[in-house]
Amino acid sequence: MRTLAIVLGGVGAGGVAAVLAFTGPSPQAQQAAAPSDSLTAPVISDTGSLEGPRQPIFFRHDIHAGQFKIQCQYCHYSVNVSPEPGIPAMQTCMGCHLIVAGSDTGGKAEIQKLRQAWNEKKPVEWVRVHFLPRHAHFPHQRHIKALGTQSCTKCHGDVQAMPQVYQVATLRMGWCVQCHVQNKPNSVSRDCTVCHY
Ligand code: HEC
Ligand code: HEC
Ligand code: HEC
Ligand code: HEC
Ligand code: HEC
Repeated sequence: MRTLAIVLGGVGAGGVAAVLAFTGPSPQAQQAAAPSDSLTAPVISDTGSLEGPRQPIFFRHDIHAGQFKIQCQYCHYSVNVSPEPGIPAMQTCMGCHLIVAGSDTGGKAEIQKLRQAWNEKKPVEWVRVHFLPRHAHFPHQRHIKALGTQSCTKCHGDVQAMPQVYQVATLRMGWCVQCHVQNKPNSVSRDCTVCHY
């Protein structure tokens, strides 16, 4: 049995390190190596029935954040310092995918698309899933500071189980105000000018 361990650090800000240890190539060997609580992402042959917009490369959160437990901030590195959490640059992907080629035919083909984009220096154009109208102001980092780095599920649902990201919350004004009132009943965070200017 061949064992490959990749230890990465410092690609994202803050030196978040991802440690991956996996065995290949037999599926039985992979299962034996996986901790018992880990989610083993299923093989998906029919992507047409998945919720959420179809992305140019079938990037799976259930594999990366679920099965391999890569921290959200490893890729969305500016989540607690910037109004925009940031979608990772190809360089972040290639830190692993220069080596990791994939195990099944579908996965290999998708990783090949990524490698080709990297070689041709054409950044992947991800389709945005969440967006607010311009008149509404949402400082993402204030929310992470107040609610914690594990709070993603409160607004985005269980992303680590999603093969393709989709919008879970309504993102309507009532949704925002309801949480503000619950968190700080007496604060100014329901004044119109907090969110609109
Ligand atoms: C290995 C890198 C990586 C990891 C780890 C990762 N993401 Fe992502 N994330 C991406 C990429 C690439 C996209 C854009 C493509 C897509 O939407 O699938 C994305 C998109 C998203 C989006 C949709 C953004 C939009 O367009 O509105 C959300 C929400 C999100 N990620 C949340 C999370 C959460 C929560 C975690 C941890 C549980 C996480 N991500 C872990 C790479 C990653
Ligand atoms: C920390 C390491 C790491 C990073 C960073 C990473 N990946 Fe992966 N990725 C993996 C591993 C491990 C697998 C599973 C490979 C396997 O099944 O043999 C994988 C699988 C994949 C697959 C195949 C999925 C399938 O259907 O089997 C694609 C496509 C992919 N990654 C794209 C990306 C993209 C795009 C990024 C950057 C946004 C990225 N990866 C970042 C480790 C990483
Ligand atoms: C209080 C609710 C809330 C929490 C908590 C939250 N988000 Fe978001 N997130 C949003 C909203 C709303 C948007 C859309 C913002 C916009 O369009 O301006 C968004 C957008 C995003 C985007 C896409 C933005 C871009 O730059 O393209 C990513 C990625 C993301 N969130 C990741 C995360 C991660 C990772 C966490 C946990 C560390 C998290 N979010 C926690 C509400 C939240
Ligand atoms: C899950 C709960 C939750 C949701 C949903 C939520 N917020 Fe917040 N929001 C908070 C918390 C907690 C704070 C921090 C309050 C503080 O720092 O005093 C905050 C702070 C803010 C601030 C900064 C307030 C200031 O004093 O500067 C703005 C602006 C804001 N939110 C806008 C929004 C918008 C727009 C939405 C909907 C798209 C939204 N929020 C959804 C919990 C939430
Ligand atoms: C916590 C953040 C927040 C506060 C406080 C807030 N809004 Fe909003 N508002 C939003 C968001 C997000 C949207 C966009 C989503 C939607 O239309 O529901 C919005 C949309 C709107 C719209 C456009 C609706 C449409 O159909 O296009 C109006 C008008 C509006 N708000 C007025 C107000 C007024 C007046 C107040 C004060 C009484 C207020 N808002 C307070 C977040 C907020």
